[in-house]
Amino acid sequence: MQKALVASAALILGMGFSLADDQPVTVQIVDALNKVYGVHPGFRANHAKGIVAEGTFQAAPGASDLSIAAIFDGSTIPVTVRFSDSGGVPNIPDGSKIALPHGMAIKYHLKDGSETDMVLVSLKFFPIATGEDFRDLLLAIAASPPSAPHPTQLELFFKSHPAALPALATALPIDSFADEQYNGLDAFVFVDKSGKKQAVRYIMAPEKIVHIGADEAAKEPPDYLLNDLAARLSKGPVVFHLKAQLADPGDQTKDPTEPWAADRKVVELGMLTITKVDPDSLNAQKKLLFLPGALTSGIEESDDPLIDVRDGAYVVSYGRRSQ
Ligand code: HEM
Repeated sequence: MQKALVASAALILGMGFSLADDQPVTVQIVDALNKVYGVHPGFRANHAKGIVAEGTFQAAPGASDLSIAAIFDGSTIPVTVRFSDSGGVPNIPDGSKIALPHGMAIKYHLKDGSETDMVLVSLKFFPIATGEDFRDLLLAIAASPPSAPHPTQLELFFKSHPAALPALATALPIDSFADEQYNGLDAFVFVDKSGKKQAVRYIMAPEKIVHIGADEAAKEPPDYLLNDLAARLSKGPVVFHLKAQLADPGDQTKDPTEPWAADRKVVELGMLTITKVDPDSLNAQKKLLFLPGALTSGIEESDDPLIDVRDGAYVVSYGRRSQ
């Protein structure tokens, strides 16, 4: 899948940067991100500022009962992790409101030389359910500067998409990338050894969650989250617990604006131990491409259309930032 996507990026790259309606929605989204945040050569169109770290993942006993995926076989799996601020501005202050939600992307390096990714954020549910709505949200932001007459395009968007504003409000400022929970939001499907399927949503839980006030975050130095991670790792590892929320048979899996009931079972999948920041993080992140649809046998896409839209848009962004 990843190879096919990178190949299609080469095609898309030749198609120009205009906001024309006849472009694929993935190109329109990246154009809209560039419109909101500006073009910053060499950086991601979204989640432009980040830090790369290294570590390992070790599955919990029982994870392999849910999925035959190689990441759950009990071996110690090397991982590359990237924590990030939202938005396409590479020097955004970490404590800025528009740096929310924070992101965590994980690449698992499997024994057979292949890779599988998870791409998570600190929202509890997602503001929109389709690629077109994501594009329209960005265009509404671009069309709603402080001087815009009321109701602004953004106010109208929030009115017609009732999940959007409450979803955005679920991401809070943090004292450290290590002290936040990151969520997968899009559903994926585990396949066990008998072929039985179970829809899941990922939760990456820290040892403790520490949220701080927006005013406090705004007073922090611009790179406080990046610096904090390096400082913590110089003293010892940072640990997260990967968990899965399990859907009940009737739960919908196609719409990440709708969380599943809070009483759905949550199971432990394993421990992620981060040991060091990549000494050449800035260069490392330029080469890295995390894709929510880069899966391994035993984990499948659900019917959530955002997974393919995201894959496409990430590849367009990767193509442009690699030029
Ligand atoms: C239609 C929905 C979405 C679109 C169009 C979109 C678009 C993008 C784009 C273009 C990038 C830059 C990719 C790159 O250059 O490598 C990106 C990065 C990212 N996105 Fe999304 N996104 C969407 C939804 C989500 C969701 C649902 C999550 C998490 C649950 C998420 C988490 C992230 C993270 C963590 C990154 C940074 C990845 C990295 O560190 O390389 N996004 N997104």
